[in-house]
Amino acid sequence: MAKTKTTYFCQSCGAQAAKWAGKCNSCGEWNTLVEEIVQKETKNDRLQLFSTNKNERHQSNKPVLLQEIGLTEYPRIQVPGQELPRVLGGGVVPGSLVLFGGEPGIGKSTLMLQLALRLKNLRVLYVSGEESEQQIKMRAERIGMTTESCFILQETNTQNIFTQIEKVQPQLVIIDSIQTIHTSYIESSPGSVSQVRECAAEFLRFAKETNVPVFMIGHITKEGSLAGPKVLEHMVDTVLQFEGDRNHIYRLLRATKNRFGSTNEMGIYEMNGDGLKEVLNPSEILITNRKDATSGVAIAATLEGNRPLLIETQALVSSAAYGTPQRSSTGFDLRRLSMLLAVLEKRCGFRLGAKDVFINIAGGIKVEDPGIDLALVCGVLSSNEDLPIAQNICFAAEVGLTGEIRPVSRIEQRISEAQKLGFEKIYISSYNLKGLDTRHYKIEIIAVTKMEEVFSSLFG
Ligand code: TYD
Ligand code: MG
Repeated sequence: MAKTKTTYFCQSCGAQAAKWAGKCNSCGEWNTLVEEIVQKETKNDRLQLFSTNKNERHQSNKPVLLQEIGLTEYPRIQVPGQELPRVLGGGVVPGSLVLFGGEPGIGKSTLMLQLALRLKNLRVLYVSGEESEQQIKMRAERIGMTTESCFILQETNTQNIFTQIEKVQPQLVIIDSIQTIHTSYIESSPGSVSQVRECAAEFLRFAKETNVPVFMIGHITKEGSLAGPKVLEHMVDTVLQFEGDRNHIYRLLRATKNRFGSTNEMGIYEMNGDGLKEVLNPSEILITNRKDATSGVAIAATLEGNRPLLIETQALVSSAAYGTPQRSSTGFDLRRLSMLLAVLEKRCGFRLGAKDVFINIAGGIKVEDPGIDLALVCGVLSSNEDLPIAQNICFAAEVGLTGEIRPVSRIEQRISEAQKLGFEKIYISSYNLKGLDTRHYKIEIIAVTKMEEVFSSLFG
C-alpha cells in the first residue's frame, strides 16, 4: 500500500504548507491550515481519465510565431434570453470553464437548470451531487419548462461522471456543485481544498480537450466552513457571481473574471414562484412610486457596468438615544458612509456627530458606483432637516473629501436614462459639463461644484 501523504492547506486561500502553522504564510489568515490526505496516483492512471489518445499527451509543444497561428473560430453557443449572454459577453464559448458562485439558497441551481432547459437543441448533462433526480424534476416542474435533451445525473465521483459523459456525449456540462464532487485519486473529503482543486483541474482538462463548455456551481463559504471556490478563480475562464439578499426578490449576476468579455456587465433577475425571471427594465423597478415625497428619499442615477440604473436611496437620521451614535448601512459601504458624514460635518457644518444614521439601498442591491454619493448625502440631509426632496429630481455625482462635487463617468447615459424615466431635474458636477451638449436634453441639468450649492438649491 502506498504511504499516506498529507499536506496542510489554507482553507482561505488554498496555499499549501508542509507543516502546520498558526498563520497562513500566503494570505496571513490565522488558524486556517488544515491537514488533508493527498495520495498521489501513479502518473499513467491519470492519463486514462478521459482521453483515449495517450501518445498525444506526451508531445511537447514548439513555439509558433503569432502571425502563423490560424484562427479557428468556434462559434459561441447562443443562449436564449438577454441577461446571461450579456454577462458572459455573448454566448457560451466552447471549451470554456465557468465557475458560478454564490451563497447557498441564492438561486444558482435554479438558474443553471433554467439554462439547461432553455437550450432546446443542445444535449446538456446536469450533474447533481446535492439533489436527487426527483428534486430536480420537481424544480423543473416548478419552473414550467421542458426539453428533450437534458440529462440528469446524480453522481459525485469524477471518474464515474466522465464515464457517463463518454456515453451521453453532452454538448454542455453543468456540475452542481464542485464542493460535493470528489475524485478517487485524492483521499481527502469532498469540499476540501485539495479535492475541489483537483476536481476542477479534471473538468478543466476535459473542457479544453473536448471543447465542451463546463459550468461549475460553487458555494461561497461563510467563515469557518469548508474550502471556498476562491482557490479556483485563477483556473477557470470565467467567474460568475450571483448576489442579492435572500429576503429580496432581486438577484444580480456579475462576472468578476471573464476571459471572453467585459467584467463590467450585470444581469438582473427576479426570483418568482416559478423560477428566475429576467428584469429588462431595471431602472423602473428600483424606484417606488409614492404619492407624496418623503424625507430621506433620494434617487441616484448610477451605472452598473454599461447599464444605467436609477436607484432609490433611503436615509434616516435621528437623535442618538444612547451614548455612541449608530451608523448602519444596507447595500452601501459603511466606511464610505462614515466618510461622507464626516464631510458633511466638517465642510458643510451639519452636526451629525450626535445622530444615528441609517442608510438603505432599495431592492437589496449593493452599489459600488461612486455616482450614488450625492443622492445619499442629500437623502441624509433631507431626513435630518425633515424636508422631502421632490420626486422629479435625481442625482449623479461623487462627493470628494473637501465637499466638492466630483464628476462621474458616462454622464450622457445617466442623463438620458433619467430623462427617459420622466425625471425633470438632474444634479451633476460642473466638471461633467465639458463636452456635454445640454441643449438636446429636455431634462433640466443643474451643474454644481460645492455641497452648499446643492443645499441652497434643494432646500432654499
Ligand atoms: P436554489 O436554486 O436551490 O439555490 P442554490 O442552488 O443557490 O442554493 O434556490 C433556492 C431558493 O430559491 C429557495 O429558497 C426557493 C427559491 N425558489 C423560488 O422562490 N422559486 C422557484 O421557482 C425556485 C425553483 C426556487
Ligand atoms: Mg443548489
